[in-house]
Amino acid sequence: MALRNLVLEGDPQLRKKSRAVDEITPRIIKLLDDLADTMYYENRGIGIAAPQVGVLRRVFIVDVGDEHGKIEFINPEIIEMSGSQIGGEGCLSVPGKTCDVDRPSHIIAKALDREGKEFTLEATDILARCICHEYDHLDGVLFIDKSVDGKVYKTEEE
Ligand code: NI
Repeated sequence: MALRNLVLEGDPQLRKKSRAVDEITPRIIKLLDDLADTMYYENRGIGIAAPQVGVLRRVFIVDVGDEHGKIEFINPEIIEMSGSQIGGEGCLSVPGKTCDVDRPSHIIAKALDREGKEFTLEATDILARCICHEYDHLDGVLFIDKSVDGKVYKTEEE
């Protein structure tokens, strides 16, 4: 098990656009494994993207605790989105803060898995929200940029 250090809000790395993965090397596999270790160690994490550990690559994982379990995304694209859901979000890189964000209620995402095989995934509710949140990280966007009322609130913890 290997934990990586989290990059926190204020660090310019979180604001950069990540580059596509052109070859799935052992280094990328290790990144996926370390992202999972880091996310599960931070017990409130339901998703984490590579730039959050300082790796500017288009890679993220999610696990919202549903039947899918952990899902790994390499070079993801969101190819369809529809509907709308407003709900509270948080982020391991933005500790102690929350706000309401409007996300699509239904998406279809496409990505490569760790074997380099393309898959598509239909997602709704929390899974759709989580994938959109993680996808934004790859473009340097944070959930606090998208607060529906323009406000960011402190949470009890941290
Ligand atoms: Ni996040």
